[in-house]
Amino acid sequence: MYDYKLDIFNAAKTALQGLEQTDVAASDAFCDYCIPCFKFAKILRKSPAAIAAEAAANIKIDGIKVEALNGYVNFTIERGAFVKNAFCGTLGEYKPLAGKTVCIDFSSVNIAKPFHIGHLMTTVIGGALCNFYRALGATVVGINHLGDFGTQFGGLISAYRRWGDEKRLNERGLDELLELYVRYHSESEKDEQIADEAREWSQKIERGDEYAVGLFDKFKSITLEQAKKVYARLNIEFDSYLGESFYVDKVAGVEQKLNAKGLLKTSDGAKIVELGDDMPPALIRRSDGASLYIARDLAAAYYRHENYGFDKCLYVVASHQALHFKQLFKVLELLGERWASDMVHVSYGMVSVEGMALSTRRGNVLYLSDVLDAAVEKALAIIAERNPELKDKNTVAESVGVGAVVFDALYDGRLKDKNFSLADALNFDGETGPYVQYTHARCNSVLTKAKYKAKKADYAELLDDEAYDVVKLLADFDDVVYSAAVKYEPSVVSRRLVKICQAFNRFYNADRIMCGGKTQDARLFLTARVAETLEYGLNLLLLDAPERM
Ligand code: ARG
Repeated sequence: MYDYKLDIFNAAKTALQGLEQTDVAASDAFCDYCIPCFKFAKILRKSPAAIAAEAAANIKIDGIKVEALNGYVNFTIERGAFVKNAFCGTLGEYKPLAGKTVCIDFSSVNIAKPFHIGHLMTTVIGGALCNFYRALGATVVGINHLGDFGTQFGGLISAYRRWGDEKRLNERGLDELLELYVRYHSESEKDEQIADEAREWSQKIERGDEYAVGLFDKFKSITLEQAKKVYARLNIEFDSYLGESFYVDKVAGVEQKLNAKGLLKTSDGAKIVELGDDMPPALIRRSDGASLYIARDLAAAYYRHENYGFDKCLYVVASHQALHFKQLFKVLELLGERWASDMVHVSYGMVSVEGMALSTRRGNVLYLSDVLDAAVEKALAIIAERNPELKDKNTVAESVGVGAVVFDALYDGRLKDKNFSLADALNFDGETGPYVQYTHARCNSVLTKAKYKAKKADYAELLDDEAYDVVKLLADFDDVVYSAAVKYEPSVVSRRLVKICQAFNRFYNADRIMCGGKTQDARLFLTARVAETLEYGLNLLLLDAPERM
């Protein structure tokens, strides 16, 4: 947004000796600023009120009204000037992060595990953050740190050999794997032989045994195929699918670094790093030689640092892994890596789901794709009722249904636990994705009906309260994206979109758009800016913006 603060500072610094840029404060979120004069009273030996009055008389800035009140100099941006500045640039041209590289580890699914509702938050928060950082000019590396290593895969192979069958696996995919896995767990408790067999298979995978690796790769591709279908619906792509197994042979390099600093200790045959009194030690290698989760994450951190040279490395992972990341960052700090401070655990709360029938739960897990399907089905019913004439109903319902789930997940502060309700998420009149999409479609329909062609507008026609409220909410949209990115908080964007819609709908009801003349041109211009901002914002939040609804 246009930097009024800087203008005010420059104009005021001769009138107020010793003024610092930070003394200029925003007194409301948009277009009023003030300078408190109390700190000058001592130096100038005058009352703050007198200082403010004198300064106000001497400060002149084009388009800004300057007044003294109660020891403050108040600055009010004139509406005309504000509107002109609001529309002087292009949406999305602000690139404060150009030249920076950000790694974002998100979604990170586990092989042979269903893509369930628990992955929703990491997937959509991470996906939105990728979009924000890209929009702000950063180079983004989206990483799906696959959970593709562990003894459980040996168990799965032995279960598959005992009870599985290729045809069923091909037909049922993950459902079959999940069932085999559940069966492995219950039967291996009763029969030790199964567990031994599992251990042998997992060693075979590690040794690169052709048959074992072949089966594992098949499980992996079944898992990824399902996950990628979900990613496509969410408009998400990854730059890397390097998973845990990729780092297994790189753990030795980390151990060397730890040894060089005298940090690697042996305890009961296990290799550990002690982290002081307030944290349990980090387990690097078990006594049987197997590396642990944190060891592979250490290797991954080095790999990312060496290969991408990141300025920030984000991990979008649930809050229950907070200790893991604290330990991970601490070990890197002990290793003397200065970039340890560029690593951030972007944590989030728990999701529960209300109103989903148990019948859609498979093996007691709720698949994300089932939730999306249910939302799309409901969206279709709503759309068919509201707009029976609409073409491409199915495509629109997909955008609206999926969008409803995503927007809902991104609407509250990420740390808050959520109880997801389909009915609430799909309420077209609530603070929801469909509401924003519908407002966007409404703007488009106004523009289409008016056969609007981009034209220069007379900004003086946009100074009434309703129009001006809309302008204020559009003016700093790029800053809103920036603030969402640096706070790792997509809700900053989703909340602003809803505010824009509410303000636009007030404007739409109060100001007749098709009123002729230059007022109509200006109102159409504003409608076009709203449509553009809503589409841009929806896309940043992974949602489609259908033209018609
Ligand atoms: N696969 C893990 C899980 O589902 C998340 C991995 C997060 N990323 C990481 N680098 N540790 O719990």
